[in-house]
Amino acid sequence: MSTEGTLRPVTTHRLAEMKSRGEKISMLTAYDYSMAKILDRAGIDIILIGDSAANVMAGYTTTVPMTLDKMIYHAQSVTRATERALVVVDMPFGTYQGNSKEALASAVRIMKETEAGAVKLEGGCEILESVDRILSAGIPVMGHLGLTPQSIHKYGTYAVRAKSDEEAQKLVEDAKLLEKAGCFGIVLEKIPASLAGRVAKELAIPIIGIGAGRYVDGQVLVAHDMLGINNEFSPRFLRRYANLADIMSEAFTNYIADVKSGNFPSDNEQY
Ligand code: KIV
Repeated sequence: MSTEGTLRPVTTHRLAEMKSRGEKISMLTAYDYSMAKILDRAGIDIILIGDSAANVMAGYTTTVPMTLDKMIYHAQSVTRATERALVVVDMPFGTYQGNSKEALASAVRIMKETEAGAVKLEGGCEILESVDRILSAGIPVMGHLGLTPQSIHKYGTYAVRAKSDEEAQKLVEDAKLLEKAGCFGIVLEKIPASLAGRVAKELAIPIIGIGAGRYVDGQVLVAHDMLGINNEFSPRFLRRYANLADIMSEAFTNYIADVKSGNFPSDNEQY
């Protein structure tokens, strides 16, 4: 799909309208200008500057080391390329938990320095004060429940979450709290499809799933994973739409061979 003639920017209000008319919402990550430009022109609804940049861009094993300055750098690169999609920026670990004033200061920096449209925070009742304070400043907030990668050291595993009745009940309550607070949407990560479907049905705001099945209002994936740039990560929920690692590797091998043999550059490729 081309975006020609459809450049009306996606807002949180448009996302709500999409949910009410049953139109699914598409969301992918980007961390740099070139990727964001391709994504935006393809017609994606939401671009997420995920703190998964810690994994795919920087090679960390968790998202915990990500900093606010680095998120702002990535987000600035993305917003320079984006004309249509709503740009959402992850607030990194340690910038909003336990101190709502610091949370607001972090969110204000993101909004002022990147010109993004919203921020995303991981957690439910534990971070409600921060969510409230950020929202009261007029900054749109997206929640993130289920598998919350910033809490990896608490859980010790990236296994499916909310399989027990107790955990599922807490997730539903947290989702309702976030909606009541004023969040415009929630990402649900790696939970049973039936539970995610229940949340999407009981809440009026859009619910975007990753590994949360098909009964939700939209889907998000990490672009590097669905493009097959990183082939080391293969969870069941991931559909690969390309195998760019192979394509890039072949191009690099051919380039190296051409340089070594003197085949590149040719007469036409020099001045
Ligand atoms: O950081 C990220 O990329 C995310 C998505 C997995 C939703 O939060």
